[in-house]
Amino acid sequence: MRKHIVVLAIVALLFSMVQIPVLAGKSQTNTGHTGSPFDKKITERFESERSMEHISYLSEDIGPRVAGTNQEKEAASYIEQELQRYGYEVSKQVFDIANRLQGQLNTSTEESEFAIRIATGSSSTTEEGTFGYVYHSGKGEPSGFPDEIDGNIALIERGDFSFWEKVNNATEAGASGVIIYDNTDSLVPPTPSLGGNSASIPVVAITKEDGESLLEKMESEEVTATIKISEITNQTSQNIIAVKEPKGKPANDHDIVYVTAHYDSVPYAPGANDNASGTSVVLELARIMKGYATDKEVRFVFVGAEEIGLVGSRYYVSQLSNDELDRSLANFNLDMVGTNWEEATALFVNVVDGAPNLVWQSTSDAAQRLGNDSIVLFERGASDHVAFYEAGIDAANFIRREPVTASLEPWYHTPFDTIDKISQDRIQEAGELIGSAIYDVVRKETPKGKRNQGVRMNEGDYLLNEAVYVE
Ligand code: BES
Ligand code: ZN
Repeated sequence: MRKHIVVLAIVALLFSMVQIPVLAGKSQTNTGHTGSPFDKKITERFESERSMEHISYLSEDIGPRVAGTNQEKEAASYIEQELQRYGYEVSKQVFDIANRLQGQLNTSTEESEFAIRIATGSSSTTEEGTFGYVYHSGKGEPSGFPDEIDGNIALIERGDFSFWEKVNNATEAGASGVIIYDNTDSLVPPTPSLGGNSASIPVVAITKEDGESLLEKMESEEVTATIKISEITNQTSQNIIAVKEPKGKPANDHDIVYVTAHYDSVPYAPGANDNASGTSVVLELARIMKGYATDKEVRFVFVGAEEIGLVGSRYYVSQLSNDELDRSLANFNLDMVGTNWEEATALFVNVVDGAPNLVWQSTSDAAQRLGNDSIVLFERGASDHVAFYEAGIDAANFIRREPVTASLEPWYHTPFDTIDKISQDRIQEAGELIGSAIYDVVRKETPKGKRNQGVRMNEGDYLLNEAVYVE
C-alpha cells in the first residue's frame, strides 16, 4: 500500500514539475510545433509502414522468440539482413546463457495439453516423462495429501505459503510430480520460484481456469497426467550491432550514443509490443540516419536475452573498454512503444534513479519542439537501460503506459501480445519523437569537458519533497 502511495506521489510530483513546460508548449495547439529543420530530417522520413512490416515478420512469421531458441536466432538474422540492406557493416556478438528447462503437461482430459510454466528449481524427467494419477491436494499443507498420492501427481492450489513449502510437503508425502494452479485469474500460468531450492520431482504451473477444469473432471472420472521436462544446455544468444561512424573525426575521439531494443520475447508471447515494437522503430531510425553526417558515433544495438534477466545488455556493456565507457554519452532504450491499449496515453521515459538526465532532457526538448504532450519522467528499471545506467551512462527506457497508475496493457507477456494490438500511429509518434531527440544529441559537438556528465541535476533541483523517495 505504502509503495502505491509512493508511486502515485512520484507520478503526481513529476506531472506537476516536469509535465508543465511540455503541456505549455502544447496549449498553443499543434500549429507551429512541427519541429526544427533538423527534426524534419527525422519526422518527414520516418515511415511507420516499414516498422509495421518488421513487427509482422518478427511476431507473426517467427512468433515467440525465447532466448536461446532458433526463433530468437531467426529474428537476429532478420535484423542483421535488414541492417546490411541499409548499408551497415553488422557485427554479431554471441554469448552464453543459462541452461533452460522445457517441457509439457499432458492429461487424459479433453484439453490434453495445457499451457504450463516450469518452476525455477524443478527437476527434469526421463524422456517418457513422469506419469501418474492426479490427486487434489488442497494448498499443499501436510494434511492436504490423500493416501493415494504416493507415486502420483499432486494438484495444488497456489497461495497461503511458499511454492517451495508446497513442493517440499508433496515430496515428503511421496508425490512423483506437482501441478500448481493459480489462485487468481490470469491469461498465463504463474512461474513458480522455489526460492533457490532444487526439487527432486518435476513442478509445473497452470492457470486457475485450467486447474479448475481439471478439478471438475476429477469429480466424475480418474484423471492421469504425464509431465515431461528436459534441460537444454549449451545455449547461446546474441546481440546484433550496427555502427554509424561520425563524419570527419579521428578514430576513437568521439562520443558514443547507444540506441537499443531487445528482440527476444517470453515463452508463448509473439511479443509484438514487447518488443518487436521497439526493434522496429530502432531499425527504421537506423535506416534513415545512415546517410546523415553526425558528430557522434551512433550504435544501434539489438539485444538478445533481455527477458531472462538483461543478459544481452549486461554482456554488451561488460565488453566495452574503459576508453569506450569514457566516451559513452547516452543510451536510448525502446521497449514497448507501440501498444494500441487506449489507456496507455503516456510515453514514459523510465530512468533508473528517477533523475532527469541527458536522455530525458533531449526528449523533453524534442517534445516541446514537436508539440508532443505525452511524455512522463518515471523512476523504473526492468529493461536494458539498467545495464548502461550501471556503467555510469545516462540511460532511459521508453515505454507506453497508463499515466496515473503506470499500468501496462493487460496482454503484456501473454499469447495475446499480437500485431492487432499495435497502433501504427503510436509507432510513428515514437519514431518521430525519440528519433528527433537522438538526432539532436548526435548531430552536434559535445564539449569534451561535458562528456559522460549528461545533464544530471542535484537532487534539490528536481525533488520537491524528498520524502517520496524514502523507499
Ligand atoms: N518490456 C518489459 C517490461 C518493462 C520494461 C517494464 C521497462 C518496465 C519498464 C521487459 O521486457 C520485462 O519484462 N522486464 C522484466 C524484468 C527483466 C529484468 C527480466 C519485468 O519487468 O518483469
Ligand atoms: Zn520488454
